[in-house]
Amino acid sequence: MRAVIKNIIPRKILDSRGDPTIEIEVVVRGGRGANVSFGRAAAPSGVSKGKHEVIDFPEGGVDASIKKVRGLIAPKLIGIVASEQEKIDGLLHELDGTSNFSKIGGNAAVAISMAVARAAASALGKPLYRYLGGGRAVRLPHPLGNVLGGGAHAGKMAPDIQEFISIPFGAKRFVDAAFANAQVHKKVKTLIEAEDMTFTGGKGDEAAWAPNLNNLDALGVLARACEEVAGEVGFEVRPGLDVASTSMYNAKKQKYVYERGSVNRDGGEQIDFILKLIKTYKLSYVEDPLHEEDFDGFAELTRKAKKQCLICGDDLFATNVGRLQKGLKVGAANAVLIKPNQIGTLSDTLAAVKLAKKHDCVTVVSHRSGETPDETIAHLAVAWGCPLIKAGVAGGERVAKLNELIRIEEELGKEAKMGILQ
Ligand code: PGA
Ligand code: ZN
Repeated sequence: MRAVIKNIIPRKILDSRGDPTIEIEVVVRGGRGANVSFGRAAAPSGVSKGKHEVIDFPEGGVDASIKKVRGLIAPKLIGIVASEQEKIDGLLHELDGTSNFSKIGGNAAVAISMAVARAAASALGKPLYRYLGGGRAVRLPHPLGNVLGGGAHAGKMAPDIQEFISIPFGAKRFVDAAFANAQVHKKVKTLIEAEDMTFTGGKGDEAAWAPNLNNLDALGVLARACEEVAGEVGFEVRPGLDVASTSMYNAKKQKYVYERGSVNRDGGEQIDFILKLIKTYKLSYVEDPLHEEDFDGFAELTRKAKKQCLICGDDLFATNVGRLQKGLKVGAANAVLIKPNQIGTLSDTLAAVKLAKKHDCVTVVSHRSGETPDETIAHLAVAWGCPLIKAGVAGGERVAKLNELIRIEEELGKEAKMGILQ
């Protein structure tokens, strides 16, 4: 008997910044064994949001979204078979009626979409990664660990660059990779303390250290910490960055404004700067090196750097198939960030993943800076065979995802493998 949606319950909850966000419970009846099952999911929110993302909440915030879920969405979804994901996601678009979920809010849409999948999986007695990915879902992603940060995620004296990342590419098991990132995080703290006697141990929104260091000094700390930890754990740990450069781009001046570095760079200078960083610090991953409209600049950088480095589009693509298509045509990137709440439904997110894979573009499932302990993205990475995940290193809402991946790896036993970069 197929599981049918019986109720949809929206709720206002706290995210990791203490801001309100939406959680959804979907109650279903039927399925294997159990009469009643349910699925729960919560939506995260970003602070360095891209212009091309769907709207997270409509005017009136979470409360307005909740009203729409109760009055408009729930009555139409009740009675539908929970495994009909595409139909349900299509209905969310139809009922919203806008191109960017500005009526019900993308966060309500994504929480419903994910909770429906979780309820359907639960009714079948399957973990979500197995329900969505079938028997082929055996690959664990390599975790990108944000260990030092600045930009929109931290205070004034922190670096301009948003995320300094460690990537344990050489780990054979996810659990070893997750602990290697934690080791880099600890090492980075010690190295910061050695450079700045006044360091208070302050952290940014994702629990990355937020020191009073300029960009290059911070990069030096990251590179050294990755190298030392690689020596200790016996596998490759490489440095990477999320420049989040849309946040520092001044469109009027057409310059990237580095407040900490006291320098402005135009597009060409920015490309040269990033290329120099890739070479000097042996970076293997650079996200959003250029602002969200600069497809051509991205393409130039990717052409010059792709042999040694992943150039990843976050704000550039916004998990949007149309924008990804445009970018792939010009070779704008060789990796794409996958954030379900940038686009609003699981079906739309999967479409972006499929398109990227078809073009050998590396998929990086990602959290947001404002998170909850919801661990759905851990399952999505395994279900869809995405080789990388960005979920942080420390803090309850971050380790929720990492620990879920540790459990999945254990459950898969001998079948488990680490993801391969396409
Ligand atoms: P956000 O940042 O969640 O604050 O948008 C994360 C990122 O830029 O990757
Ligand atoms: Zn980003």
